[in-house]
Amino acid sequence: MKEEIQTLRQKALEEIPICKNLKELESLRIKFLGRKSKLSFLLSQIGQLSKEQRPVIGNLLNQSKKEIEKQIAVKKEALLIVKQKKSKIKREIDVTLPGRPVEVGAKHPLFQVWEEIEDIFISLGFEIAEGPEIETEYYNFDALNTPEWHPARNLSDTFYLKNGMLLRTETSPVQIRVMEKYKPPIRIIAPGRCYRNDKPDASHSPVFHQFEALVVDVGITFADLKGTLDSFVKRLFGDKTHSRFRPHFFPFTEPSAEIDILCINCNGKGCKLCKNTGWLEMGGAGMVDPKVLEEVNYDSEKYTGFAFGLGIDRITMLKYGISDIRILFRNDLRFLEQFV
Ligand code: DAH
Repeated sequence: MKEEIQTLRQKALEEIPICKNLKELESLRIKFLGRKSKLSFLLSQIGQLSKEQRPVIGNLLNQSKKEIEKQIAVKKEALLIVKQKKSKIKREIDVTLPGRPVEVGAKHPLFQVWEEIEDIFISLGFEIAEGPEIETEYYNFDALNTPEWHPARNLSDTFYLKNGMLLRTETSPVQIRVMEKYKPPIRIIAPGRCYRNDKPDASHSPVFHQFEALVVDVGITFADLKGTLDSFVKRLFGDKTHSRFRPHFFPFTEPSAEIDILCINCNGKGCKLCKNTGWLEMGGAGMVDPKVLEEVNYDSEKYTGFAFGLGIDRITMLKYGISDIRILFRNDLRFLEQFV
């Protein structure tokens, strides 16, 4: 009898783990533990055994019964989990449901313009240069011939850091970094972020974007500056516009000028955008001051160069008719979604 019970137990413990579904499991339960099962039959026979055999066989039977019950419970749990998962998967791939739209992001308008500017200058034979946003006073001011007393160096205009460095106030220091590293001919633009201690309003932001252009070679003249700038603004805003210069002062150029372009809104007739002047202010330019060339050990008798700096935010605003610079930095999706 002992052997019979062992075989029975083993059979149950082999068959239960490999059964495939709850229905099969239920028939196994009936087969091994049901009223008409062998186990039930053997249990009913215990009374007829000898006094010595009764506790041994009884124990064995009860233990086997418990073990089989436990196996069935464990298997049931596992099958239920599989069933739940299956029904979930079925729900997830319900092909009758309408598709979920895939949200596509887009480049910020500022960076769309940034890249367009780069493309134009690359096609004119320029290279793209970069410099750090955290600068030294030397690169931001001294090397650019900006004297100690210059108002731009004022604490109220420049963000100085505790370690004596500063947040660059313009992209012009990249001129120095490039010239220190390479010999002429130089033909670069350096787009990047700049910082000034300005109170934000519709046309000022403490963080803004500029790009610097620098060309140095033998025989570079003001005519090259004019020609380069003019072809750039035409490529950017269309053939109808052109540039003009107004005399100005910058420490690192001589002569210096401010750049205007013919108003892209009214073509010079006068409108709200150009405050009835017919012209839009775009930035600064000039011939690189010989002092700057000498600072980087270029022979200022041999080489001449021109430089200019324009605002990328300003260009973006003009291009898209944006009247408040702050909206470029607010991350408002209602604004940004218009540029997808
Ligand atoms: N760095 C000047 C500014 O932020 C702009 C500028 C003027 C850049 C003249 C130049 C330049 O390269 O030649 O106001």
